[in-house]
Amino acid sequence: MGNTTIRILVVDDVPESRDNIERLLNFEPDFRVVGKAARGEEGIEQALRLQPHVVLLDQTLPDRDGLEVAAAITARAPGIGVILLGLDADPAMLRRAMAAGAREYLTKPFNYEELVEVVRRVGRLANPHIAAANGAVPTHHAVAMSSPPSPGRSGEVVTVLGSKGGIGRTFLATNLAIVLRSRLEREVVLVDADLMRGDVAVLLNLTPQRTWTDVARLPVGMADSEVIRDLLTRHVSGIRVLLAPASLEEAEHIQAARVQETLQELRRIADFVVVDTRGGYDDITLACADVATTLVWVLSLEMTAIKDTKLFLDLATRLGYQEKRQFFVLNHVSPASGLTPDEVEETLRVLIPVRIPSDATAVVRSINEGSPLAWNSRQHRIVAELERLAQLMAEDREELPQEPIRRRRFALPRFRNGTAR
Ligand SMILES: Nc1ncnc2c1ncn2[C@@H]1O[C@H](COP(=O)(O)OP(=O)(O)OP(=O)(O)O)[C@@H](O)[C@H]1O
Ligand SMILES: [Mg+2]
Repeated sequence: MGNTTIRILVVDDVPESRDNIERLLNFEPDFRVVGKAARGEEGIEQALRLQPHVVLLDQTLPDRDGLEVAAAITARAPGIGVILLGLDADPAMLRRAMAAGAREYLTKPFNYEELVEVVRRVGRLANPHIAAANGAVPTHHAVAMSSPPSPGRSGEVVTVLGSKGGIGRTFLATNLAIVLRSRLEREVVLVDADLMRGDVAVLLNLTPQRTWTDVARLPVGMADSEVIRDLLTRHVSGIRVLLAPASLEEAEHIQAARVQETLQELRRIADFVVVDTRGGYDDITLACADVATTLVWVLSLEMTAIKDTKLFLDLATRLGYQEKRQFFVLNHVSPASGLTPDEVEETLRVLIPVRIPSDATAVVRSINEGSPLAWNSRQHRIVAELERLAQLMAEDREELPQEPIRRRRFALPRFRNGTAR
């Protein structure tokens, strides 16, 4: 049995299913069934002792529920990829399985090809030697994550910031990503970094199957761009999305350093990594801003938002962000607000080249239908403004520093590219 063999444990109380699965899987030259168990307790004990790459776990066992068994295995051996086999096709079940630590939920009856495909995908993530054989990570060192991106493709990290909740970051990030992809034909990854309550899946009508949780579970040295690519969800527009975790508990465990390393890896496979953040300035949001090459500030015609933005801009200056390219975007522009865009420019002493009109009917409908304006209403005036933003972003890419600017303290304010003054 070579290093690249995927070692599998089968846990199922029905002897014929167990034997059938074993026989089928052993047809694959790179699979090896290394153990079989009929009960949950026995499955946990064997998983910990044999350390397989994959556990195929029937959900209904005589002594314990499969979800509990999955949780017990992954709590003690997070590197093992658990695949739950069950009868429930409801997406809610899938989320529960993921919350219990399972990597996949396969609904019965499944066919042979499906089973093999899922085992191979999960096994590949769990066995570092396979990733290495595929050129994903070198076998002998375990720090691929923290090394800088390769000089090959080095996409931009565009972090969308906004001082207040509800200012339109998610709407903007999502539609901007689609415009960059569909109009400018760039490779785009959209990242939902509002880990606690990310909305990107809703806006794009995507069912989260693989999320940040799966990225965070990758062992150090395996969180390579090629491996992370498998954890992205494709949207019909062609963008790929790293979705927020399914539960608050999962989100809590994700560290800022891991977020930063992941964004660095994604630069290797995309021209633009567009990052939606949470309102305010927690450590995750600052990590996303630190690693960014471009910042997009979402503003609104409200004094409270402007005051908060001013505070954030002062902080950004102290952090050295003025070295990054910055775009200021006014959202919700309407004549009824009593403040004009020019007054906001004056107050903040920045130029605001992109002004997105307010259109509650179209925006709310697009959100509720999970059908982004940039994909389904391409002629809309909001989309036209976003196209201008995308164009500005694409135009002077060459001027960007290839490496992200590290935090520096107490630098003097200086803005570039005519986007601020
Ligand atoms: N240009 C616009 N015109 C009308 N309504 C808008 C516009 N942009 C955003 N909205 C509305 O504002 C609400 C908040 O937008 P969005 O979720 O994108 O903001 P956010 O900054 O990501 O908020 P959160 O703090 O919840 O993450 C949405 O429900 C949307 O209906
Ligand atoms: Mg949001």
